[in-house]
Amino acid sequence: MIDLKGVEIIEIPKITDPRGNLAVIEKDCLPYAIKRVYYLYDVPSDAFRGGHAHKEQLEFLIALSGSFEVVLDDGKTKQRVMLNKPNKGLLIPTGMWRELDNFSSGAVCLVLASDVYEEEDYIRDYNQFLLSKSR
Ligand code: TYD
Repeated sequence: MIDLKGVEIIEIPKITDPRGNLAVIEKDCLPYAIKRVYYLYDVPSDAFRGGHAHKEQLEFLIALSGSFEVVLDDGKTKQRVMLNKPNKGLLIPTGMWRELDNFSSGAVCLVLASDVYEEEDYIRDYNQFLLSKSR
């Protein structure tokens, strides 16, 4: 169970097949149109990724391969979520601090973002993030 507002685990429709499964993200699966796709791979097991929040953008994270953990923080509550299934993704709403760690060997984190890369959309300083929450 995830108690952070707007955070959701979304099951991606899949077509099971003895030849291999196929998962599809289309139409209304996500509450936004995808404008950017990027992925993290070859991540050392002791590495930390993320460490920021977005002012406007939403992101959907999928462990395409292997596993990793995401610590979500709305400024009051923190919750750790493990992603380890290619057909289940984590929807992260705007204004949510996230940190990614505990990447397994071979893990691939696919990110579907609601907008193109814009550094101005990032809050990378945790104190600034907390300030933005108290406004
Ligand atoms: P960073 O935000 O630190 O990655 P993560 O949050 O996944 O740990 O980004 C690392 C670098 O890559 C930083 O210099 C910004 C750049 N970058 C892009 O140019 N385009 C992108 O779409 C992303 C996600 C990052």
